[in-house]
This record gives sequence, structure tokens and C-alpha cells, in this order.
Amino acid sequence: MTAPILRKLADLRALTREWRGNGDRIAVVPTMGALHEGHLSLVQAAKAAADRVIVTIFVNPRQFNNPEDLANYPRTEESDAAKLAPFAVDAIYVPDPDQVYPEGFSTTVSVAGVSAGLCGAHRPGHFDGVATVVTKLFLQTQADCAFFGEKDYQQLLVVKRLVRDLDIPIEVVACPTVREGDGLALSSRNLRLSAAARAKAPALYTALTSAADAIGRGEDVAATLETARKVILAAGYAEVEYLELRAEGSLAPVASLSGPARLLVAASLDDIRLIDNVPVRAG
Ligand code: PAF
Repeated sequence: MTAPILRKLADLRALTREWRGNGDRIAVVPTMGALHEGHLSLVQAAKAAADRVIVTIFVNPRQFNNPEDLANYPRTEESDAAKLAPFAVDAIYVPDPDQVYPEGFSTTVSVAGVSAGLCGAHRPGHFDGVATVVTKLFLQTQADCAFFGEKDYQQLLVVKRLVRDLDIPIEVVACPTVREGDGLALSSRNLRLSAAARAKAPALYTALTSAADAIGRGEDVAATLETARKVILAAGYAEVEYLELRAEGSLAPVASLSGPARLLVAASLDDIRLIDNVPVRAG
């Protein structure tokens, strides 16, 4: 069964009012479309956790700091709806832009701390755009729970923090990164890799996991990261934007491993910016 595609907030509200009246638990899976198995794993988790599932598809202009990146972002609504069909979600919310940003829109949700550094340092305004749209989608859907992938680990922490700080009554559920057989983390951006770049791309995950293992065994953090950076460049990546060890939860920089940590990377291959992260544990 194909789910109804809703483009107006009033139509979404009419549905959710009815569901709430029935006592249904509502889940939301926020996306920007170009759905892949990673998104579908979030949908599956949402289906298992709630009575009603809303998938939102909105390419949010406010989180793109590069106009070219926004223009090139894949828009594949028809195939997205076809991919969702087997999951029998209850609604696909594809808001018209003015339903999210009406004329004169003047509010920004800005999360300090966890949004600093990493992607926050390299994509000015990005997390303000994410925090603002996610807050709106939470309020528009009035969902009880929301599903996010760990692939965008910093985004996940930004969302958790805004929910806590603003007392938004929603449970944020983190789901593991889904990978190709060769380790490449699924991303809508992978669609833009040439065949040659696609062949080189898994080197990022390989370097990340071997650095995480080395740090876990007690090897020097700075030296290990320097080696991993060289390995990524030697594999054909043009630039390593950042490769950093941070504390899980707070994202505070970690110079030597003393608790649960995360190794996070952003690197570009043929002008395509890829990000990934893995947990780091001692022992
Ligand atoms: O991760 C994404 O696809 C986007 O950042 C999100 C959470 C849908 C907000 O636009």
C-alpha cells in the first residue's frame, strides 16, 4: 500500500489529531529523501516501536552552507515513495517549502557545545539549519519518538541536546550505521561518486577502524591519527577535513583514551564530501 503524500501542515495535523485520539504512538523518521538502506533501517525500527510512522522528506535549504551542494542534492520523490511502499508507513510528509519556512520566518534554533568543531567548524550554519528544521518537524508531527542514524553522529547529539534543553516531549532513538559489504557507510552522496571514486571510497572506513583498534590497544592517539590521515590521502582522497577522537556523548576532544570515545572523519573524494565515525573502546 502506498502511503499518502502530504504537502500541507494542516493535512498532517488532521491525521495526527485522529491518531492521537485513538491513543496511537507516533514515530517520525526525518529525511532529505534519496532514500537508501540506511534510511529504511530507521523506518523498520520506527515501525517496530510505534503504531504510526511518518517519514518526512524535505531538502532543508538552511542546512546547506554551499549553494552548489544544495542544487546537486538528489531529489527522487517517486522512487523514495516506491522504496517506502513495502514498509506500509502511515504518511509521507513532503512539505511545500512555505509550510516549513513561511514568509518572514525569523527564528533559529542554535545548539552550542556539541555543534562546535568537526562538521560545525567546516560547515558554518549547518547545525543551526538542522536544529531549526528538526525542531519544526518535531512540533509539526508531534511524534512520540524520532529515529536518527549514528552515521551523522554529531547531528544525533545536537538533536538529543535540543530535545533535552527545550523539553520537547519526544524520544530520540539512535540506530547503527548501515554499510555496504566493503564497509562504505551508506549515504545519499554515494550516488554522486564515479565508478573510480566508489572503488577508492571504502579506504575511509578501513583507515578509521584500524586507527580505532590501535587507539583501543593503547597506541598514541596523535601518531595513530597522523598515520590514518596519510593512509586516507594515499588511497586517493583529496582532502581530510578532520579526523578526530572525541568523547562519546559530549564530543569533548580526547588526547588519550580514558572512556568511551568516537573517532570521527570527514574527507573528500572527487569533490564529494563523505563522513563516517566508529566507536573506540579500550582493550
Ligand atoms: O540527516 C538528515 O537527512 C537531515 O540532516 C535531517 C535530520 C533530515 C534534517 O534536515
